[in-house]
Amino acid sequence: MTEPSATVTESSAPAPMTATTTPIPESLRENRPFPPGTKIRMETRRLSFLYGKNQALYDITLAIPEKAVTAFIGPSGCGKSTFLRCLNRMNDIIPDTRVDGEVLLDEKNIYGPGTDVVDLRRRVGMVFQKSNPFPKSIFENVAYGLKINGLCRRSELPERVELALRRSALWDEVKDRLHTSALGLSGGQQQRLCIARALAVEPEVVLMDEPASALDPIATQKIEELIYELKRDYTIAIVTHNMQQAARVSQYTFFMLGRLIEHDRTDKIFTNPGQKITEDYITGRFG
Ligand SMILES: Nc1ncnc2c1ncn2[C@@H]1O[C@H](COP(=O)(O)OP(=O)(O)O)[C@@H](O)[C@H]1O
Ligand SMILES: [Mg+2]
Repeated sequence: MTEPSATVTESSAPAPMTATTTPIPESLRENRPFPPGTKIRMETRRLSFLYGKNQALYDITLAIPEKAVTAFIGPSGCGKSTFLRCLNRMNDIIPDTRVDGEVLLDEKNIYGPGTDVVDLRRRVGMVFQKSNPFPKSIFENVAYGLKINGLCRRSELPERVELALRRSALWDEVKDRLHTSALGLSGGQQQRLCIARALAVEPEVVLMDEPASALDPIATQKIEELIYELKRDYTIAIVTHNMQQAARVSQYTFFMLGRLIEHDRTDKIFTNPGQKITEDYITGRFG
């Protein structure tokens, strides 16, 4: 792959970018495989990302439609996690990195001045590959974000915790043990607990980075069913290295190799990809 040369500057934080976003040029409006009228919840415009001198993302322009699942696929090291972390500025905490371009949430650049990063991460929640419950009770895990952000009254906590646990399809399994340690749950339950924790603060977008890759097939199936359900209320972006999983849970798929290779409806990508390299990847010829 030939990459454009990267501009590298000394910086330990993402470079500040313009707050006002210019109308999207026609040339960037390609790759929008959505039905007319689809509402776009997030988009990136010419997004590039560097770790020191190593460029991980090149000029990615992508729209993520609301209330749908967009899957990100590509071989290990192609920048999937980096891309996802750009969407809620989780990369900010990594020193000596640089972001170029824009990331829009509801048409506002999240890298512009005045962004409240804590609020951004509430609106754009994240679930990681390895479930990471706190060594606290099930209840406290789900209530955590509500408490630290002061998002509801103490008296409302039980109701909000129950709602999040119901949405993450965990309530029936834990309702009699809410005040026992979360670490006593199985791996699959812990991951659904982390999803409940992310949902409790009422995010608009949920980013999931290989959320089922450490789980057994039955726990994986539960997570997949859950993701499928969640798209009724949330905008979901999921990284997966499992092609069948991408085909099962997502409506749109984005195939990347540092840059955007192909973005289309999932059924199209998996049955009739537009590019030879996409076909080679999804049929297991590399990666
Ligand atoms: N914290 C980091 N510091 C430096 N380089 C990183 C870091 N995280 C990822 N990279 C590099 O960025 C590239 C993309 O990585 P990543 O986004 O993790 O890919 P993927 O999730 O597709 O496997 C890789 O070359 C990787 O080595
Ligand atoms: Mg990754």
